[in-house]
Amino acid sequence: MKSNQYIYNVNYNVQDYNLCAFEARALFDDELEDKVLFTDKEVEPSVSPFLKNRIKIIYKEKTFNGILELIIEDGFKANDFMVKYVPMYNRDPNIGQGKKLSKEVGLRIYGYPSFKSPKIMLGITYYQGYWYFGYLKQNNYEWRSHKQKPYSFSSALGVNIAKVLINVASGGDTSKRLVDACCGVGTVILEGVFAGYDICGWEISPKVAEFACLNVAHYQYNAKIVTGDMKDIEEYYDAVIIDLPYNNFSHYDEEKQWNIIKHAKHIANRMIIVTATNIEEKLYEEQLKIIDYCRAEKTIKGDFTRYIWICEN
Ligand SMILES: C[S@@+](CC[C@H](N)C(=O)[O-])C[C@H]1O[C@@H](n2cnc3c(N)ncnc32)[C@H](O)[C@@H]1O
Repeated sequence: MKSNQYIYNVNYNVQDYNLCAFEARALFDDELEDKVLFTDKEVEPSVSPFLKNRIKIIYKEKTFNGILELIIEDGFKANDFMVKYVPMYNRDPNIGQGKKLSKEVGLRIYGYPSFKSPKIMLGITYYQGYWYFGYLKQNNYEWRSHKQKPYSFSSALGVNIAKVLINVASGGDTSKRLVDACCGVGTVILEGVFAGYDICGWEISPKVAEFACLNVAHYQYNAKIVTGDMKDIEEYYDAVIIDLPYNNFSHYDEEKQWNIIKHAKHIANRMIIVTATNIEEKLYEEQLKIIDYCRAEKTIKGDFTRYIWICEN
């Protein structure tokens, strides 16, 4: 059987379940009942902290031999290819046989394999009674180097939350123009640039803005960081991300926070607001439509809770 779907698998630590499910809803409109999901949507796994593998399904069959037969029947061709068995879940009965299965598939493909620098990655997997074969894309985890950015401060977000903010702001559409209106040391900016977005950051504190610029330069990324009050933003964006300054850190009073949100309404229709407390009632008072929300923890101890609100005007 031929197919045009994608199969993805995700992985997360217990404290990240909410965040992972929140991201899956924004990217795939999927409720994530399992760690494996099927969709028509193509998303690069490396933009997510949770997506591990993506296979663009070419064949789906009840038996492994059925897949081999289709490869032969179609005279499937590829050059500089490599085949990998990709377990989609922990109790996959074929774990341990991956090399043998990949070899069986590789032997039936017309063309030269490459084990050192393959240009085409092919994946084979088994899930809930079916075998799948197709083009494989894996998370490269290069973004993990951002955890060691040179400048940080205690209220900076974790990389996982930062990546999810980009994905929920854009729905995975890299053509969207984004702004991080209170960008701090640029944690979210790094993830935006990494994923290929046109993203700009604003930061009121000159010192902190300088740290954001140095962080961006450290990875040789290109992003505009403006030192200034977000109230001076005049451009209109597809989405604005606001990680609100917190009372316990900047002594910002509530009114100042709400002024930031009020101004953000004029910058973009879609607003992603990060807060340390539950502000649901206030958002309704401001007549903002809450599209979705998530309570995320940065650590397993739960000592850095953040609420993420997706709102629209
Ligand atoms: C919670 S921190 C953001 C942290 C950031 N997400 C990070 O991970 O580095 C909020 C930032 O907003 C900045 N800020 C406060 N009021 C602002 C305003 N009106 N315009 C722009 N930035 C502002 C603060 O200086 C602070 O760096």
